[in-house]
This record gives sequence, C-alpha cells and structure tokens, in this order.
Amino acid sequence: MIRSTEIRGKFSVFFKGRGHAVVPSSSLVPSDPSVLLTTAGMQQFKPYYTGEADPVRDFGAKSVASCQKSFRTSDIDEVGDERHLTFFEMLGNFSFGGYGKREAILYAYDFITAEMGLRISYVTVFEGSSSVPRDEESAGIWKELRSDIDVRYEGMDDVFWGPTGSSGPCGPTTEIYVKNGAGEDIEVWNIVFNQFFYPGSREELLAGTPGKELKPLAQFGVDTGMGLERLAMVTQKTRTVFETDLFAPLIAALPGELPNRVQRVIADHARGSAFLLADGVRPSNKGAGYVLRRLMRRVFAYIYLHALPIGVFEKLVTAVIADYGAEYPELGTHREAILSAMRSEREQFGKTMERGMKAIAAMDAIDAKAAFDLYQSMGMTYEIVKEVGGLKARGLSRADFDREFAKHQEASRAGAEKKFGGHGLILDTGELKAGNEEELAKVTRLHTATHLLQQALKDVLGAEVSQRGSDITVERTRFDFSFPRKVLPEELKRAEDIVNAKVGEDLPMTFVEMPIEEAKKTGALYYFKEKYPERVKVYYAGTSLKSAYSREFCGGPHVTHTGVVGKFKIMKEEAVSAGIRRIRATVE
Ligand code: SER
Repeated sequence: MIRSTEIRGKFSVFFKGRGHAVVPSSSLVPSDPSVLLTTAGMQQFKPYYTGEADPVRDFGAKSVASCQKSFRTSDIDEVGDERHLTFFEMLGNFSFGGYGKREAILYAYDFITAEMGLRISYVTVFEGSSSVPRDEESAGIWKELRSDIDVRYEGMDDVFWGPTGSSGPCGPTTEIYVKNGAGEDIEVWNIVFNQFFYPGSREELLAGTPGKELKPLAQFGVDTGMGLERLAMVTQKTRTVFETDLFAPLIAALPGELPNRVQRVIADHARGSAFLLADGVRPSNKGAGYVLRRLMRRVFAYIYLHALPIGVFEKLVTAVIADYGAEYPELGTHREAILSAMRSEREQFGKTMERGMKAIAAMDAIDAKAAFDLYQSMGMTYEIVKEVGGLKARGLSRADFDREFAKHQEASRAGAEKKFGGHGLILDTGELKAGNEEELAKVTRLHTATHLLQQALKDVLGAEVSQRGSDITVERTRFDFSFPRKVLPEELKRAEDIVNAKVGEDLPMTFVEMPIEEAKKTGALYYFKEKYPERVKVYYAGTSLKSAYSREFCGGPHVTHTGVVGKFKIMKEEAVSAGIRRIRATVE
C-alpha cells in the first residue's frame, strides 16, 4: 500500500525532477482579503499568473509545486458522506509562462499511471462556450497518450475553473477520473489552463455579467489540483476517504458504535478545527472564526448527544497533531494554544448547550427566525439545530438562516453607528476608528503593527521608551512615546525592519484575560494614563504569553496572526513636546 506520506513525497520528487521549485503550503488564512479561507493551491500564486510578481525572482523557477492546506465551506453540508470534507490537502503543480497543455497533461498522466500505478477511467475536456473555443488540443493530447481513452466533453459549470475571490485568473480545465475501492469513478485531478483574467467573481462570470469580459492573459498559466485524500482513496483502494491512512487513526479514536456519518463528521471537523486553530483562527461570530466555531460546536454537540467521554475532542486533536505534525510543524508549535482555545470554547458553549438542546426538544417547528434566536441566546449553530431538530427543522434552510444572520449583523452595525454619534463609524475605541468593514480590517492590521512597533522601539532605543498616546485611522497609525531626543534615521530603519521581521514570522496574535494584578506581573506593557478594569486582556504576539515578542494590555481588535499585517513603513518622526516623540507609520 502506498501510504499518504509517500504520496506527498513522490509528488514533490516527481515535480522537482521536472524543474519545479517545491513551495511550502501557505496559511489557511489567505493574504488576499477577498477570500475568507484558502480554498485552492493556486491562491497564493495569483499574482504570478497576471505577471504582477516574478516567479524566477521569488522561487528560482517558472514552475512550482506544493501540498496546500485547503478549506471549503461550500461542502460543509455534504460532510458525512463518502468523500466530502471541509479541510483537505491539495497537491498541485503550477506554471507561470513556463510550460503548456502538452507538458501539463503528460506530467499528470505519468504521475497517475507510472508513479501511482492507476488506470484512468476517463477524462473530461471543455466543450466550449460563446467566448471560449472547445478544447480540441487537450482532447488530442489525451488520445496521443492512450488512443482508447474515453474523453468526455463538459461545460462551464464543471470544467472551467475560477476565478477565486472578487477577480482573478481562470480558464478551461481537463479532469482525470479513476476508480476507488468500490469501483466508482472519482475525480482525482483537475488541470486548469489559466488563459484568461476575469474582472469579477465566478458567479458574475457564470451569469454573463454585462461589461465584464474574459481578457486573455499575456502568459499561459497552468494550475493543477489533486486532493490528497481522494488520491489516497484510489491508491489504497478504499471505498471512502475515511478508510485511508489519513483518517483511519482518527476514526479509530472514536467508539465503534457511533453511526458512520457521525464518526466522519467528528473526524473531519476535529481535523479542520486543529488546522484552523494552528493558523491563528479563533472561534467568533464572524468570518473564519465563525466557520471554526461551527465546526467545534458541532463536535461538542455530538459528544453530548452520544454521551461520549468529554476528552474525545482533545484526543482527536492530539491524534491530528501526531499524524500531521511532521508535515505541518505549526500544529506542534501551537499545540498548547490549540488545546486551550478548544477548552475555552467548550466551556463557553457548555454553559448553554444543554439548555439549547432542551429548548429544541420543546419546540414544535423551527423556522429561520427561531433558529437564529437559538444561536443568539444559546449558541446553537445552524448545523446543530438542523440535526437535533430533525423533522421539526425540515422547513429550515441554510439560505434562510444566513439571511436572518445577515439581517442581524446589519442591525447591530446600525446600532453601533448610532452609538458613535452618527459619524458612520462601526468602530471607535478612542484609539481606533473605522467606518466600514474594509476600514476595520485595515485599522486592525495597523493596530497589531503598533504593538509590534512599541516593542521594536524598546529593542532599539531602550526600555525607557513608553507609550504616551496612540491614534489609528485607516490612513496610518500615530504613536507617541517618551524619549529624550530625536530618533536617528538608522534607528527608525532598525525598528521598521524588526516589525517587518515579526510580520514575516507570522506569529499568532491572541489574548488571555486575567486579573489586572496578575497581568502586571506578566511584564505586559500598559499605558499608565489609561483606566483599566479589574480583569484585563493581555494581547500577545507569539506562541505563548511567556515567550511572546510583544505583550500589552489591550481591548483589541487585532489580527489573528501577524503575517496579515503587511509591509510596515515608518513615514515620519517628530517631536510633540519636550521628551515626547511621535511616529506615523502605515501598512501596505
Ligand atoms: N484550482 C484548481 C482546483 O482547485 C486546480 O488546482 O481545483
């Protein structure tokens, strides 16, 4: 049997041997703000297709390969069947003006047949649309490789990839199907030819939005993606991905009498949660944090419903770290943070879960509004309500629930605007101001940068530096601090470099809440002029409070990991008054 670690290894050796630079997986939290989570291997390479970035400068080659951590929320309702997952690993080779269709198809054919020893059942090829011709070239290449190959033509919906996010590269694809252990044909490899750029989303593209046209890219791009779990299923001849060596140890950690579907959901969600936590996501009511919260709470709900030992989740997360830690060292590095975030979510949800379960049991019918109330008041997520509600929740749809959720978010935003005196601000902490979601994201990045800057100034100028004020708007951060003389340009440069280095290290940014006296003992920085409550949050950039690079009393908000802060730049340094200096800085 070819083990999955061997598959990863063979893939990277195969492509290295064919002139590809092997690039590590990027974080599940993408730097592209138009996408919530990393859904495909090509995402980190978007600027290389359009020519904005130079692969030879960055990787030393025009072609790269990776094994990318990916997460798709679109499949969340399907998890529990034979092959749908939220988190998965995607093997891919990519070329930016390097090779064309012939090499891309040949590599895939050789890898699947010679390296993996598999027989291709059939391939799909783009049938053409009003703006893109039928892909006769790919069909011809397949026939040359194996004259009796079954080539099936399909349309835009199935064999035209992208774009991801609000715009990007896209193009026709050709896919490879192989039989699994049950004799079913499974799509294992998607080979995309990025020939176009589309200035809108995939939905807009499929709808044929007026004014938005496909534009040919200056260079031919190749983007391939092969789910490791599916490949493991077909090479290990199992019926489902859950019987492969990627999942077997997780399933084995669960009591055998649990229904299959429940075992699979728990295994998938525990694995997804561990990886999201390792990349700095924390449960919340928004964005990636909300996705994570739903995964974790669903596991807690199953533990409750099936009276499983409370330690099951921890056992699974520990198994994930043991199984995947060698490939993804961030799991091990953040082990404590992962487990403690998990425990605190369990504690928080544990307080209301039982009440929530009883409330569902007592209801006659559950519509979207009732479901949203259950979330609001008792933290019961849509998936739990749907499942526990059974027939009573039959009329409840995800779309209706999401609409109810969005309505509520708008209402709370309107409330916040009113509270902030009609300035149209959604955030005004005194220190940070933002008028909309986009500004909020920017000031949040600037805020974390400001924490790093304070510590960097202490490193460069000495411990006597202490905060005297700060003010953050969407344009810049302004930081005042005590220091007796002008800061020299080379000192500013050193501080700037340190901040950028800490951004580059992609440190997790989290907080712990504790009594103020205890917090002072941690050595965390605080602003003496500020009045702090009895319990304070200490935000820290690093893997533990003790080893953190920066520690400060702070109410947030902050980014979840410093990598997303972006390039930090000091614009100006000046005197405010005797002994007080002011720095203005931006992030890109
Ligand atoms: N981007 C394509 C996919 O995710 C191929 O990598 O399927």
